[in-house]
Amino acid sequence: MFPVTRMRRMRTDERIRNMFRETSVDMDDFIYPLYIKESTVDGNPEEISTMPGQFRYSVNDAVDFAGLLEDQGLTSVLLFGIPNHKDAVGSSAYDPNGIIQQTIKGLKEQTDLVVIGDVCMCEYTDHGHCGIIKDEYVQNDPTLDYLSKIAVSYAQAGADVVAPSDMMDGRVRAIRTALDENDYVNVPIFSYAAKYASTFYSPFREAADSAPSFGDRKSYQMDPANFNEAIREVALDIDEGMDAVIVKPAMPYLDVLREVKQKFKMPTIAYQVSGEYSMITAGIQKGYITEDLLNESLLSIKRAGADMIISYFVPQLLDMDKPY
Ligand code: PBG
Repeated sequence: MFPVTRMRRMRTDERIRNMFRETSVDMDDFIYPLYIKESTVDGNPEEISTMPGQFRYSVNDAVDFAGLLEDQGLTSVLLFGIPNHKDAVGSSAYDPNGIIQQTIKGLKEQTDLVVIGDVCMCEYTDHGHCGIIKDEYVQNDPTLDYLSKIAVSYAQAGADVVAPSDMMDGRVRAIRTALDENDYVNVPIFSYAAKYASTFYSPFREAADSAPSFGDRKSYQMDPANFNEAIREVALDIDEGMDAVIVKPAMPYLDVLREVKQKFKMPTIAYQVSGEYSMITAGIQKGYITEDLLNESLLSIKRAGADMIISYFVPQLLDMDKPY
């Protein structure tokens, strides 16, 4: 009771503050998303205009850059591909010689990183949606076969983990079954179980050339207004065999993240998405806020319950914001 209890007493000395800090962010908490573009030439990564400091790499440059990050302590990468050829069924996504398959092989040869393949169709379809279209509607069950093919093809290339981000119902079970049938029983599924239809993805769609050519993603991704629905989504994916849960975006959905961690005690990953990166970066570049925001944003995500964070800020945290 005041004045016996003075909360500021423990804040006066920096050394004591350091002793009792409850949350910390370390390099081994991070998964770094890498964009690999088939038409990018070696030695000339393409800067993404909506995400200053982030690049689209050729296969060789992606592998080299990931190796440099690994030397500095990074443990895992998440791969997104931008192919030359797009069609209605996203066939480049499961091409055994596709851009992601090549990158996985390169990373496995040259690094020890945990390589995660993002399983989705939107970067590979000519309509930009995350599944098979009929009558302008994304068909759930036919899409599952394609997602399974993509996941198996990543596993064949050597991926350590697959991460479906499409939000079709039943995809975790379909992918688990396909992996098991092909003897990949030990390839885990990190599922984007609670993924919202968020405007925070707009810089990504520019980066990955994956904006839908008609309509939006609201018939498969979640309504930002809903909380209970996220809990049900996570429970379903656990039932279907998910190994780790991804909540996405991160900062605007910390309430969801906290509840998911507390309720299910699953390995939990938060995705600090492109829009979060771009907003913070723009604020810093404009001089409206200082670079301390970067650390504060990441701390808030860990504090809310994330075991791991997928974040574009990895190179900046390592003072490597130029690719070479
Ligand atoms: C693919 C996918 C998206 C993101 C990750 N996987 C885009 C989307 O759903 O439109 C967004 C990542 C980011 O914004 O950083 N479906």
